[in-house]
Amino acid sequence: MEVFLLLLVVFSLSFAVYPIQSTTGSHTDVHIVYLGHNNGLSPSLTSRSHLQLLSRVFTKPDEARQAILYSYSCGFSGFAALLNSTQACTLSETEGVISVFRSRTLELHTTRSWDFMGLNLHMQMEQSSQMHLKFGDDVIVGVLDTGVWPESESFRDDPHYGPIPSSWRGTCVKGDSFDPATACNRKLIGARYYLAGIESELGPLNTSDGAEYRSPRDRVGHGTHTASTAVGSVVPNASYFGLGRGAARGGAPMARLAVYKVCWYKDLTGRCSDADILAAFDDALCDGVHVVSASLGSSPPLMPLFATSTEIGAFHAMQRGVVTVFSAGNDGPDASMVQNVSPWGLTVAASTIDRRFPTVITLGNNASIVGESFLVKDMKKRLVESSSVFTDGTCAFEQLINRTAASGKIVLCFATMGMVSSEGAALAVYAGNGDGVIFADTISRKASQDNFWPTVHVDLHQGTQILYYIRASRKATVHISPSKTVVGKTPAPTVAHFSSRGPSSITPNILKPDVTAPGVNILAAWPPKSSPTVLPLDKRSTNWNFDSGTSMSCPHVSGIAALIKSVHPTWSPAAVKSALMTTAYMYDDTSDVMLAGGTLKAADAFDVGAGHVDPLRALDPGLVYDAGARDHVLFLCSLGYTAVQIRQMVLPGSSLDTSCPGGGAPHAADLNYPAIVLPDLSAPVTVKRTVTNVGANRGAVYRSAVVSPQGTRAEVWPPELAFSPYHGDKASYYVSVTPAKPSRGRFDFGEIVWSDGFHRVRTPLVVRVTNLPDDGVRAAATGDHGSHGATDYLQAAA
Ligand SMILES: *[C@@H]1O[C@H](CO)[C@@H](O)[C@H](O)[C@H]1NC(C)=O
Ligand SMILES: *[C@@H]1O[C@H](CO)[C@@H](O)[C@H](O)[C@H]1NC(C)=O
Ligand SMILES: *[C@@H]1O[C@H](CO)[C@@H](O)[C@H](O)[C@H]1NC(C)=O
Ligand SMILES: *[C@@H]1O[C@H](CO)[C@@H](O)[C@H](O)[C@H]1NC(C)=O
Ligand SMILES: *[C@@H]1O[C@H](CO)[C@@H](O)[C@H](O)[C@H]1NC(C)=O
Repeated sequence: MEVFLLLLVVFSLSFAVYPIQSTTGSHTDVHIVYLGHNNGLSPSLTSRSHLQLLSRVFTKPDEARQAILYSYSCGFSGFAALLNSTQACTLSETEGVISVFRSRTLELHTTRSWDFMGLNLHMQMEQSSQMHLKFGDDVIVGVLDTGVWPESESFRDDPHYGPIPSSWRGTCVKGDSFDPATACNRKLIGARYYLAGIESELGPLNTSDGAEYRSPRDRVGHGTHTASTAVGSVVPNASYFGLGRGAARGGAPMARLAVYKVCWYKDLTGRCSDADILAAFDDALCDGVHVVSASLGSSPPLMPLFATSTEIGAFHAMQRGVVTVFSAGNDGPDASMVQNVSPWGLTVAASTIDRRFPTVITLGNNASIVGESFLVKDMKKRLVESSSVFTDGTCAFEQLINRTAASGKIVLCFATMGMVSSEGAALAVYAGNGDGVIFADTISRKASQDNFWPTVHVDLHQGTQILYYIRASRKATVHISPSKTVVGKTPAPTVAHFSSRGPSSITPNILKPDVTAPGVNILAAWPPKSSPTVLPLDKRSTNWNFDSGTSMSCPHVSGIAALIKSVHPTWSPAAVKSALMTTAYMYDDTSDVMLAGGTLKAADAFDVGAGHVDPLRALDPGLVYDAGARDHVLFLCSLGYTAVQIRQMVLPGSSLDTSCPGGGAPHAADLNYPAIVLPDLSAPVTVKRTVTNVGANRGAVYRSAVVSPQGTRAEVWPPELAFSPYHGDKASYYVSVTPAKPSRGRFDFGEIVWSDGFHRVRTPLVVRVTNLPDDGVRAAATGDHGSHGATDYLQAAA
């Protein structure tokens, strides 16, 4: 009975709709009031000013003190407080307030991968002496996630670490089952947790029996996994129950780790509050992290950039030279679902790697089929089709005939019958006392991570063959052999079907996602107390686990960003991003392998951004597209912010001009981004870009090669850029794009490549020509869908 109740809970979860409380009379919600930078004031002065501001909407000062959850006063200025709608509205109209928005709940975007990217250990060792690569020993990566399992070997202390960087001002806090004296060391140098927001929004945490820990300790597993992917130390002989055996390590295995626990166990996954996320950013920036890794977000509709905790945090991180890396989301493969789309964040899509787990299925007629699984032991069983176990053949709990209908059997399930997931099918077969599942799905979705009950994945063609065999035999049987680990024999990378695609739904001129990295079946550290599937039914324990999602690709790029920061400590976040983007490779480079796969289309820039990251090339990109404070002032002008608001948001620098140019707002496409997207081209347009020579040869000469998107003519002027020690390291060029024929509505893809014979600096050029009338309706894509100051409140609270 217990199992049934639990299953009901699990099933109802997948359909649960979280009631949004109506904003009636006295009802209060957690709101965030964003005020820009903190003007160089001390945190205590800033906090006092927050209380003064808040007191204006309360009758007694005590009420204001009680309502405030966080005062963000170190990395930037703002606060989170419990407010009713009148108070929120009043504050949003107050001078000096940039935006007021309701705190929302975000979701997680839930060892061979590094070798696959050409950054194998041997190479790293060899390169280290040549390139003074210190493995990122001096770089601190802050991971905003579900916390950490400090006992994991990935985070152990090691005599090779030098002292903790003297710039570090962070701390390890004490809490439930978390003692800094034993948990923290020269690897794990910081650990904090934030739950004022989530408890105000979702109620008190359940901490009985280790259901959660009021501390940086990880209950879910996700944070341990992402942190070890970004910076985990080298651990030999890691495997998941023997599968995928090899050395596990992060992208920057010597970098230091600072953990900011902002996501909490709820409904079998982690949930995170805007208010807590901003508090973590506020601390991380003052603690002195160099890279922030955040594998979380919220599905579209996207809120304006300055009504989103992650974007506000990343904006102030950027101004302090800190790189923020985000996951693109798991809402693919439909267009425009990409999340975390600001130009100052780095947004990562997910792709496959060349490792598979082939599993041989031998049917009773001796036909054999190779599927994919994570099976560790041999199984010989009766084989039945789903309709003998489920009333209408749908492998779902509600359709189960009775609790023993699948006893001693393996059940063939089709994803296409009733649209079930492999996880749902495995649970349903388990509930029917079955022994396992053969799960047939389309090729693009086939590869999947482990289920808690034995599941072999096959494609629709294979599934149909198995179905015909079952129907043709009186007593069908199957023999499933243990899975093997095979590396290097699969066409890869290919973009993962779940990876969220561009274009951005609020800033279509900014290419998103920016790059792609491995995100399917990534092996990394796991808390032994959480089962690999996080299901309570699953009683297995493991120190290593496979996981998939843009959650997994994001920390790969955070690790590479840490290496770049280690080699080039003075590079701005824009330069680091440029280095990653211009050196990435497109899947077209391996199109012959891809096509051998049969059914996959070549990835385009809305699938993978500039392409798949290439860590070694990113350390020496030749040219970078840098962007400084003035560039961001102009971008904020393009979003509709006034000079007064911009002065409050952009850190004052010597001779920084914070005014917006007269004669119309600048166009967002003019931001010096390492990609050009023109979503609404009806007449010729010229776009300017400036590159900085960061190569060893200060007298390098670069020549351009342009591939015009179909239906357009793109030209670059000048065609050659000559750098010299006398003329400086910067040079500008212009790209003019002309529609070549009438068209409407289709994106086409081209590129601009600069080369000095050694470096190849590639920039995607994406154009949608819209010079045909659309039944008299003007095109809507103007690129100005950003936020407009304090009016954010009305949109954000709606
Ligand atoms: C909101 O709170 C303030 C201060 O407590 C109160 O004066 C006001 O009436 C409240 N508004 C609503 C809509 O409840
Ligand atoms: C809290 O967690 C414990 C341990 O997982 C569980 O047994 C209990 O039912 C939970 N309580 C609530 C109210 O969810
Ligand atoms: C690797 O670990 C396995 C257990 O998972 C153990 O049996 C084996 O001896 C180890 N191999 C080495 C080389 O340490
Ligand atoms: C399958 O192969 C086994 C061993 O090779 C053989 O004994 C058996 O008769 C074969 N069964 C069928 C149906 O061909
Ligand atoms: C459960 O369903 C199976 C398959 O239809 C049937 O063979 C079995 O007798 C049923 N058991 C019970 C207890 O009804």
